[in-house]
Amino acid sequence: KFQKRIFSGIQPSGNLTLGNYLGALKRFVQKQDEGIETIYCLVDLHAITVWQDPEALRRQTREAAAAFIAAGIDPARSILFNQSQVSAHAEMGWLLNCVARMGWMNRMTQWKDKAGKNAEKQSLGLFAYPTLMAADILLYHATMVPVGEDQKQHVELTRDIAAKFNHDYKVDFFPSPAPLIEGAATRVMSLRDGSKKMSKSDPSDASRINMTDDADTIAKKFRKAVTDPEPLPETLEGLEGRAEARNLVNVYAALADISPEQVIAEFGGKGFGTFKPALADLAVSKLEPISTEMSRLMADPAEIDRILGVGAEKADAIAQPILAKTLDIMGM
Ligand code: ADP
Ligand code: NA
Repeated sequence: KFQKRIFSGIQPSGNLTLGNYLGALKRFVQKQDEGIETIYCLVDLHAITVWQDPEALRRQTREAAAAFIAAGIDPARSILFNQSQVSAHAEMGWLLNCVARMGWMNRMTQWKDKAGKNAEKQSLGLFAYPTLMAADILLYHATMVPVGEDQKQHVELTRDIAAKFNHDYKVDFFPSPAPLIEGAATRVMSLRDGSKKMSKSDPSDASRINMTDDADTIAKKFRKAVTDPEPLPETLEGLEGRAEARNLVNVYAALADISPEQVIAEFGGKGFGTFKPALADLAVSKLEPISTEMSRLMADPAEIDRILGVGAEKADAIAQPILAKTLDIMGM
């Protein structure tokens, strides 16, 4: 009943990281190149769930668009747009706020992580973030959502919301979207703390590789990455209980498009003094052409705005009829 369609998003809330690249962007490009219909969104309405400096948000939105294009997203083959320019997202978000249950929202681990012990001081928007994400996906009747491991629970919530809507209104209107979580780098960890994911919102710049870091910075951050002192093991099983080493092996594998087993076959028995510089060289060879292209694109912000404008029109053409039908089903 529902045709294959991919939707995913990234917050323009800061420097995109190696985690965003491997967990999201690189795979977004693969899906586009497989010929599937792909819709990619810069989710600025999600970014403002925590304070954003307005000028910085404007710049980071263009920068994120440049990162998508530089990484290989072709605006002629994928729809690339900015969430706030398609008002149906906010409208659908409200409708789904009235479908989702408080108990479901209270169970979201990302909310608990981000709010910590300070839930009372957070914006209502941060709590409702997952219903807006459900709206983003369901507004396009998307069937597949490529995300990192950290977003799996939100896609599952989206399925619950779709099912409850279909059940409550006795329709078969929303598809049940599947999270696509694939590859060796579905959860790239912080370089300073192997128990935290690498994130653009981490206050420590040393915890992450930014897509725009230069070669020296990348080499230095990997050199200083927290690891144990042991050499890499001869087998993959030997990485058990060694979160930091496992993370660097996964990152190498994802960057080189090989399996973690192959990385161990090459580097097993070698120390980090050998492995870290090899990893840094590999990361530079993949990221440098992208950041060079990003700088070129950023020199012409009007062109980026034009591309996002065209993307928003295409997105709106799909979203409006689905929003209108949703309102109709609900009696409005
Ligand atoms: P961030 O957490 O850096 O702010 P977003 O919430 O904007 O990133 O997530 C954008 C996409 O990048 C999502 O698909 C998310 O799963 C993916 N992603 C973010 N961080 C990582 C990571 N450390 N490892 C793998 N994927 C990640
Ligand atoms: Na996030």
